[in-house]
Amino acid sequence: MGAAGAPGTPPYPGRVTSSPPLATAGRPAGTGPARSAAPRWVVVPLVVNLVAQVGIVVTGGAVRLTGSGLGCPTWPHCVAGSYTPVYNPEMGLHDDIEFANRLLTFVVGLAAVTALVVVARLVLTDRRPATLLPLGAAPLVGVVLQAAIGGVTVLTQLHPATVAVHFLVSMGLVAASTALLLRVREGADGPRRPLVAPAARRLAGVLVGLVALVLALGTVVTGSGPHSGDAEHPARLGFDTAVVSRVHGDAVVVLVLVLVALLVVLARTGAPARARRRGLVVLGVVLGQGVVGWVQYLTGLPELLVGLHMLGAALLVVATTAFVLGLRERLPEDAAAGLPPAAVGADAR
Ligand code: HEM
Repeated sequence: MGAAGAPGTPPYPGRVTSSPPLATAGRPAGTGPARSAAPRWVVVPLVVNLVAQVGIVVTGGAVRLTGSGLGCPTWPHCVAGSYTPVYNPEMGLHDDIEFANRLLTFVVGLAAVTALVVVARLVLTDRRPATLLPLGAAPLVGVVLQAAIGGVTVLTQLHPATVAVHFLVSMGLVAASTALLLRVREGADGPRRPLVAPAARRLAGVLVGLVALVLALGTVVTGSGPHSGDAEHPARLGFDTAVVSRVHGDAVVVLVLVLVALLVVLARTGAPARARRRGLVVLGVVLGQGVVGWVQYLTGLPELLVGLHMLGAALLVVATTAFVLGLRERLPEDAAAGLPPAAVGADAR
């Protein structure tokens, strides 16, 4: 097993590795494709898109934590007959905060349109495959979907279930935006080649499921607590917050155990340094997030810490996506030429 990652050695038996010499021969597995990585003009807009997707999670959190979710009580108008707030001393800053977050949707939308244009240009002029387009379109489709879900959230008077869906869809968009950035940067579009042992790949699947579970349970805790979004009628899900917080925290413990097991498997099977490094980053984010979670729970959920916890959740999604994608690499397209058809198959997507 220790041979994995040795120069020119296909690391693990996957559908691709039984092939004749690959275009990456002579290069350590996991060090990226032979073709040059994407240019800066491509990477910068995709980074901006990712930052925007993470940023709107935090500003959306500010709306919830300042109890401004109904600052604009209707949608798409802010108040009846006006798309913008109308001076009302009873609203304080709530209507301005909610309206500013609505405006931010346009900034995020612009970043998503730019990301799609960049990917379309790569497909048209740089011979990148058209199969990149759905991933390139995901942020834009997601922003439109989120605008609709945000509207339903207001129209249901901030029902915690719609607030939770709104948050979880954002997590999906953060994952898609991270995958888009890494996929484009990869530069190669040939078959996928696994870089780690099958046991590690299976554990990584379990890890992804656990991250999703922890995020979903977190929204249940929020919907049962004082920060569900509705300042006048919080805690609308009605679960005992101590119990749901405990379940949420216990799921994190299982997540940590699986992650540690995965890191051990990666170390013992000689996985590439990049995979192990990214795994350690995930561990760091999970532990940091766990500390924030406990401190906020024990100190009565101060708004600032709850906001930090939301940012931590988004960063965990970024780190996990990067980690999972780093467990395999793409070969240059010409590498597929020497492979038996069965070896390439769906992996050439
Ligand atoms: C991997 C670690 C963790 C992740 C990814 C995570 C994620 C989340 C998410 C996504 C939410 C909901 C945010 C929202 O709906 O806006 C949440 C809420 C919450 N989490 Fe965690 N969490 C983690 C660890 C913990 C731990 C260890 C505790 C301690 C018990 C904890 C306590 C809470 C509490 C009390 C809330 C509700 C906050 C509120 O009222 O808004 N979390 N968490």
